[in-house]
Amino acid sequence: MPALVLLGAQWGDEGKGKATDLLGGSVDYVVRYQGGNNAGHTVVVGDQKYALHLLPSGILSPGCTPVIGNGVVVDPSVLLSELSGLNERGVDTSKLLISGNAHIITPYNVTVDKVTERFLGKRKIGTTGRGIGPTYADKINRVGIRVQDLYDESILTQKVEAALDVKNQMLTKLYNRRAIAVGQVVEELLGYADKLAPYVADTVLVLNEALEQDKVVLFEGGQGTLLDIDHGTYPFVTSSNPTAGGACTGAGVGPTKISRVIGILKAYTTRVGAGPFPTELFDEDGEALRRIGGERGVTTGRDRRCGWFDAVIARYATRVNGLTDFFLTKLDVLTGWEQIPVCVAYEIDGKRVEELPYSQTDFHHAKPVYEMLPGWNEDISKAKSFSDLPKNAQAYVKALEEMSGAPISAIGVGPGRTETIEINSFL
Ligand code: IMP
Repeated sequence: MPALVLLGAQWGDEGKGKATDLLGGSVDYVVRYQGGNNAGHTVVVGDQKYALHLLPSGILSPGCTPVIGNGVVVDPSVLLSELSGLNERGVDTSKLLISGNAHIITPYNVTVDKVTERFLGKRKIGTTGRGIGPTYADKINRVGIRVQDLYDESILTQKVEAALDVKNQMLTKLYNRRAIAVGQVVEELLGYADKLAPYVADTVLVLNEALEQDKVVLFEGGQGTLLDIDHGTYPFVTSSNPTAGGACTGAGVGPTKISRVIGILKAYTTRVGAGPFPTELFDEDGEALRRIGGERGVTTGRDRRCGWFDAVIARYATRVNGLTDFFLTKLDVLTGWEQIPVCVAYEIDGKRVEELPYSQTDFHHAKPVYEMLPGWNEDISKAKSFSDLPKNAQAYVKALEEMSGAPISAIGVGPGRTETIEINSFL
């Protein structure tokens, strides 16, 4: 029962879409287990480029069943427009399965996300403004709306009423906004029911049966390890668990079923939104990484903050996820530097620290300790095997592998589907 988890080892945007798509042909199910349309994958198939936010990237592989698990939060209008966009381009989306237990991002959750961020002012998180946090808050507060609620109007109305009771007080009295009418929300949500009905399923049963039948199931994390609500740079995190354990709760599959956990690791580091980032660059190197790497958010269009590779973070990701492998992406972006700095440890208040500090204050004070690795100038985008890489690029990869604590089993050398070096097969 090959069950693989594929997740971001840094702050998200590591290039997971490319990795999932590379595996897509041999995978029977691709499952999203957390997050919502705050994620963004760019997948290049042939000469076509697809930007996916909510749908698992397996949707582009004809033999693969894409699954939206119970741990995901679903904005129905975004989902339906993503589906129709793909249909217009000739992609068959009929195999999609959506958990009836997944929570719905309602219009009021989006409103609350935006007004609370505005209210926080300079303390804001820099969320994607898609209603992710407020929807998970409703889930934990037990006032959430689930996909299955769309099929019982009376229950749906009661639940929307319960949720809006408090929120309308908050919107009108605290934020000076207009109250949201229950009837209007219910009507909008009911309008999605028939359109979503063909996809709604007991995905926990489907996935466990698939594993019993030795099907290959790939669990695809959104965001990244350092954005995890428990293990990330709290409070500058997303509101779910992208780390490996989240695949179990967010899809209803026991930890004993997971056979491999692959961390996607960019050859340098990026981050969107606020929060600490020890290797962040504010000079022309940072600008060059942003330009060459095309570091602009797929979901928000915001410029990503860019910095050098941070091995402390990579080691941490290996630990909290139990990583078995890394997929190193965007190595080609580093072509052309004479020397490439790599952060091997931090200096915090004058002391050298080898591991990620648990204290938020310490992490905010962390200064990178760099080791310089020799760069390369050769075009590496045509490399098909590890030995095709220039010696210095090979040494860079080997050094990262040694510092990060898990084997690098694949390397991305360009954005296209075929621009990947496979070292160890994932299956
Ligand atoms: P939220 O997920 O919209 O609540 O945003 C919380 C934090 O996570 C913000 O810093 C976002 O920029 C960041 N974030 C959310 N989704 C992604 C992603 O897919 N890639 C990178 N950062 C993300």
